[in-house]
Amino acid sequence: MEIRPLLETNCLACHQSEVKLGGLSIQSRNEAFATSDRGARIVPGDPDASLIYTMTAVRHGKQNETMPADGILLTEKQRALLRRWIEEGAHWPTGDDGTLVPLKIQPGTV
Ligand code: HEC
Repeated sequence: MEIRPLLETNCLACHQSEVKLGGLSIQSRNEAFATSDRGARIVPGDPDASLIYTMTAVRHGKQNETMPADGILLTEKQRALLRRWIEEGAHWPTGDDGTLVPLKIQPGTV
């Protein structure tokens, strides 16, 4: 799953099973592929219908005071990688192999 490091580094701090900002966890495959009130999160083959891609067009997450005040915004290169991964079928292993690991917060920063 080539997209794993990108998601772990950029998204998982706010979107993990224990945190779930915006009601979204992408820590496990089942959570990431669930449909929310806003629509489908991942539609294999169709990035423009996938919230996990379309949300990265906007800087979001500002509401959370403990997170960077300017919110998350991927680079064009990162968005292109995410787009291609969805276009190519959004391969995401099941079970433990498909469970992401949030980055550890560095000691001393909290
Ligand atoms: C700084 C915290 C933070 C980070 C980092 C972050 N998000 Fe979010 N995200 C939020 C918050 C808060 C919401 C809900 C409010 C909003 O819509 O802005 C949200 C909402 C979403 C939603 C809509 C959820 C739904 O199902 O309705 C998606 C999809 C999403 N984020 C994807 C991502 C992706 C993909 C990344 C990584 C590239 C990411 N987010 C990184 C805080 C964050």
